[in-house]
Amino acid sequence: MCGIVGYVGSQSALEVVLAGLRRLEYRGYDSAGVAVLADGQIASARKSGKLVNLEKALVDGPLPAGATGIGHTRWATHGGPTDANAHPHLDNAGRVAVVHNGIIENFAELRAELAGRGHVLTSETDTETVAHLLAEEFSGCADLAEAMRLVCRRLQGAFTLVAVHADAPDVVVGARRNSPLVVGVGEGEAFLASDVAAFIAHTRSAIELGQDQVVEVRRDEVVVTGFDGRPAEVRHFRVDWDAAAAEKGGYASFMHKEIAEQPRAVADTLLGRIGADGALILDELRIPAAELREVDKVVVVACGTAFHAGLIAKYAIEHWTRLPCEVELASEFRYRDPILDARSLVIAISQSGETMDTLMALRHAREQGSRVLAICNTNGSTIPRESDAVLYTHAGPEVAVASTKAFLTQLVACYLVALYLGQARGTKWGDEVLGVVRDLADIAGAVERVLGDMEPVRELARSLAGAGTVLFLGRHVGYPVALEGALKLKELAYMHAEGFAAGELKHGPIALVEEGLPVVVVVPSPRGRCVLHDKIVSNIQEIRARGARTIVIAEEGDDAVLPYADHVVRVPVTPTLLQPLVTTVPLQVFACELAVARGNEVDQPRNLAKSVTVE
Ligand code: G6P
Repeated sequence: MCGIVGYVGSQSALEVVLAGLRRLEYRGYDSAGVAVLADGQIASARKSGKLVNLEKALVDGPLPAGATGIGHTRWATHGGPTDANAHPHLDNAGRVAVVHNGIIENFAELRAELAGRGHVLTSETDTETVAHLLAEEFSGCADLAEAMRLVCRRLQGAFTLVAVHADAPDVVVGARRNSPLVVGVGEGEAFLASDVAAFIAHTRSAIELGQDQVVEVRRDEVVVTGFDGRPAEVRHFRVDWDAAAAEKGGYASFMHKEIAEQPRAVADTLLGRIGADGALILDELRIPAAELREVDKVVVVACGTAFHAGLIAKYAIEHWTRLPCEVELASEFRYRDPILDARSLVIAISQSGETMDTLMALRHAREQGSRVLAICNTNGSTIPRESDAVLYTHAGPEVAVASTKAFLTQLVACYLVALYLGQARGTKWGDEVLGVVRDLADIAGAVERVLGDMEPVRELARSLAGAGTVLFLGRHVGYPVALEGALKLKELAYMHAEGFAAGELKHGPIALVEEGLPVVVVVPSPRGRCVLHDKIVSNIQEIRARGARTIVIAEEGDDAVLPYADHVVRVPVTPTLLQPLVTTVPLQVFACELAVARGNEVDQPRNLAKSVTVE
């Protein structure tokens, strides 16, 4: 939801900012812009479309060199993706430039007020009002940080703002409320960005900003205050991945790379989870053990792919802890007045740690007295910071908008949390926990094996490039996998795809089946819960009898599916509850290949953004 970069130092601000924006383009890519301070003036350029359009425009009309600058890559909220609505926005005198992520809810009122004072606003954005307000306040106090604090106190909504002023050389000022902003601290240079990926090539030393804080960065100084002007505590952290992790590394796209990285990501998420006493270890735990034992209900809140991880978590949590577990779309959660109290444990799952719907759900839960445990991939992001406990997934940076490796690591984290709760509540013995952890440790190799045999899946995907609809069926933990398979196909291939519980088929969706319709079926293991297996084999027969082209994902050695499968994709044998860790992978590869075959851009699908910081 918009990427922001600010720089002050001795390098070319334009180059640093553009390189940072390239790393942040996953956050939004419908327009981009930059502003540089040079010779007491602000020089800026903005262009609709992807960053490459701006880069071309800068070749035709270069900006003067400067060592202080800001930049923005946009995902439109107020006003379409035009040149005029692209950021940075300037005041009428062109002395202040501002970039913004979020929504200023009282912008209509502010706009009317500014127009009344003779300001001419030239875009449809909420952001432009901030440029004008900042210019007014700066003319009164000649201090950009103070001007920013005064303006922020007047704004409602969610916002990260970064600004420069022509009369305040060598200073970049940022502010944040409910949207992300981190500071990078280099040698004689400093960075502001929505995500550390923007400055990781220059420094790994970073500072987290809290809610309602303003930061003022100079070459050798970072000053953080509250919106009220009081000095704020500064929290430093070190980024534990390097620039190479955010590069494509020879793959055709970030998504190809991230799919391939899954064995490593799964293994990394498991690292160091068992303490010397055999107990599981979370990253941050501010919930007393006695309180965990008192928990009488678990509620998982998440969005998109993370929601599907939550749906799978329910099976493990209920089975291993005997606690009731609800899974809810974060965007629906707080509006239905959910029943929560101090004995409810809410688990918020989010790759980015910034998804506004999930953040609002967790805040609502905490207001009701519930404890919140976050499963998150982004250190220092808002969701883990506002939670009572955190388990970080160690997927490394996920750049492709559609989530792959983060999903698999979220699953691993969910299993660990379920075991942790089981252990704390005494429903799982230490040796049982270790047994599952050992099974999880084997999964990285199983995912590797699946990835090693994907050519037939790619070939099948290419053969379906002209299909209109693909259905996905599953039972038990295979049902959320079917939902995830369908979501991937919608996101990447822009195809109509739906996931159903296979047993529900006969209650309606079977009417969709016609000659040649591709249907992907995720088959549970024939071992253990063979009742499910037999039932899904019947479901496959039912759709095949009606002309469906059946694509069956089945365990190695499961030959019962062979008579009814047009295509079989094999996955290694795993414990029933852990099967989604292997069955999801062919569906990711399938969607990715279909998207490529249809000429789509897999890393940046149309209309989407990776980090959705609006509700
Ligand atoms: C966006 C992305 C999805 C993602 C969802 C939740 O909609 O396009 O891929 O699953 O947000 O993101 P989160 O960062 O909270 O996991």
